[in-house]
Amino acid sequence: MGYHLRMAAIEAGELVVDLGSGSGMDAFLAAQLAGAEGEVIGIDMTDEQLAKARRLAERDGYASVRFEKGYIEEAPVVDESVDVVISNGVINLCDDKTAIFRKIARMLKPGGRMAISDIVTERQLAEASVCDVNLWASCIGGAMQEDDYRRAIEEAGLELRHLQDNPQYHFISDSAQGATKTFGVKSAFVLATKSSGSRIG
Ligand SMILES: C[S@@+](CC[C@H](N)C(=O)[O-])C[C@H]1O[C@@H](n2cnc3c(N)ncnc32)[C@H](O)[C@@H]1O
Repeated sequence: MGYHLRMAAIEAGELVVDLGSGSGMDAFLAAQLAGAEGEVIGIDMTDEQLAKARRLAERDGYASVRFEKGYIEEAPVVDESVDVVISNGVINLCDDKTAIFRKIARMLKPGGRMAISDIVTERQLAEASVCDVNLWASCIGGAMQEDDYRRAIEEAGLELRHLQDNPQYHFISDSAQGATKTFGVKSAFVLATKSSGSRIG
């Protein structure tokens, strides 16, 4: 199981949202933790991924999981209804991270938590890297500098509890490895919470 799912500490009966759910692997693991009284909603923008995830859910009898089509920036989820937001390798692909963290803060119940795995950089990426399609495909081109990433989470109204490097994650292509060395690109696990006193404005 991915470490972000361990950090999420999903309990029986909870409502979990997986942003960028792909073929559904994390959503299915979350469903096992949330149990029959819980519910998991996977959100993805890609028809092929949704079709595969729905097929697997049907095949393996995951009745408490559903997959919805949508952009995670506009995830079709009721405000303040979600116990846990999870996401694995997706937010780096999105242009406006602050908007996504704000959306997460809106959908979480007070006291809810966000546990994600994502790519960040130690140093700001150079313009040439941000414009390199291959580096976007390697989940690097859109990666945010770590301090800016922390700030985006906190400016969205979430409290950052933990940002931990994942040294086991390795990039494969030569260009990805080059960028990794130059800019300190790395995978990280992030845990943040919405304070129990906080209400959406
Ligand atoms: C690298 S895959 C990760 C999939 C899954 N989380 C996993 O760990 O296997 C990225 C997924 O995010 C989806 N995605 C990327 N940007 C998105 C956005 N803005 N809104 C919704 N889905 C998005 C893609 O369609 C794809 O399924």
